[in-house]
Amino acid sequence: MSHETRKSAVQTLEWRDGALYLIDQRQLPLRFETVVCRTAEETAAAIRDMVVRGAPAIGAAAAYGMALGARDAAARFADDTAGFLDEMERIGAHLKQARPTAVNLFWAVDRVLAVLRAAAQGGAGGHSPTPAPLAERLLEEAHRIADEDRRVNYAIGRHGAPLLEPGGVLHHCNTGALATVDYGTALGVIRAAHAAGTPIHVYASETRPFLQGARLTTWELLQEGIPTTLITDNMAAHVMAKGMVKSVIVGADRVTANGDVVNKIGTYGLAVLAKEHGIPFYVAAPVSTLDLSLKSGDEVVIEERDPREVTHVQGRRIAPEGVNVYNPAFDVTPARYVTAIITEYGVVRPPYEEGLAAVVAMAKKEANRA
Ligand code: MRU
Repeated sequence: MSHETRKSAVQTLEWRDGALYLIDQRQLPLRFETVVCRTAEETAAAIRDMVVRGAPAIGAAAAYGMALGARDAAARFADDTAGFLDEMERIGAHLKQARPTAVNLFWAVDRVLAVLRAAAQGGAGGHSPTPAPLAERLLEEAHRIADEDRRVNYAIGRHGAPLLEPGGVLHHCNTGALATVDYGTALGVIRAAHAAGTPIHVYASETRPFLQGARLTTWELLQEGIPTTLITDNMAAHVMAKGMVKSVIVGADRVTANGDVVNKIGTYGLAVLAKEHGIPFYVAAPVSTLDLSLKSGDEVVIEERDPREVTHVQGRRIAPEGVNVYNPAFDVTPARYVTAIITEYGVVRPPYEEGLAAVVAMAKKEANRA
């Protein structure tokens, strides 16, 4: 089996027996547990509570959440297609409320709703199909989104691998098989470079406060046999100054039209440090993460999460009771710090407006052909 066609050891999400099975990423690496979602409501809760996280994984989970909602709504609105469509809009709005920053969630819900509307208009003899076949069509689209994500990540890996020089690669958060349907975006580039024989060594930053780097990225990289060293976030400047890092690579939750990158809190600091040390700063992002409707990162809603993520570690209090806490989950890296953005259609370099618009146009053309 080739490097690419071999499925990862972990499958973040899986549709099985009419339900969505998710690896509970809150428990890793100490416990491997699965959460089963049987309704759209349960899927929204799983996204909100970080059972499933990472922009592309959230998008695919939301698409399956819509499929679960459609099955239930089709039973309740058996012959009432208009009522069914209204109910699906409501379910979509509910899923979109789960987390505000990663655009993939909105992209996936809007995509399945568009397919649903088109299918509702396309019945034989001008008659609208009943809800049951529409719900089936929606599930098909959710499978399509999941399959596409796997292929997209392989392509990102192929385009990005040649950019990584031999030596240290600093990676932030988790962008691997756990954060996507399979393989990963930035971690996919790392996997592809390793598979191509480039001698790389990953410095995985722990990613306070949720510890995606320490808990998830190191867990994935160890399974893949890729040389890895865990560092705390505040060691980044030191390892760069020591010449231990040849490139930095991260994923994204949203990239705006001007090339600003919204990603896990701490990304901006790494980008500034990389520039100071003359180290290239790469972002791996599928087209589903590009949001050209927004001019710049200033327009993106940055999620603020529960203060307990900061005051507690694994349920144990580490800060005094009553202290004020600020817990933004993401930050904005201005485009001027980004060396290149690696998409499934190729590597985009500044000026980003043109390059990003071109890859989005390519994606639209391909979608229209399909
Ligand atoms: O809060 P999270 O864990 O969902 O944040 C994840 C990130 O910021 C990732 O870097 C991003 O989603 C890209 S994952 C391919």
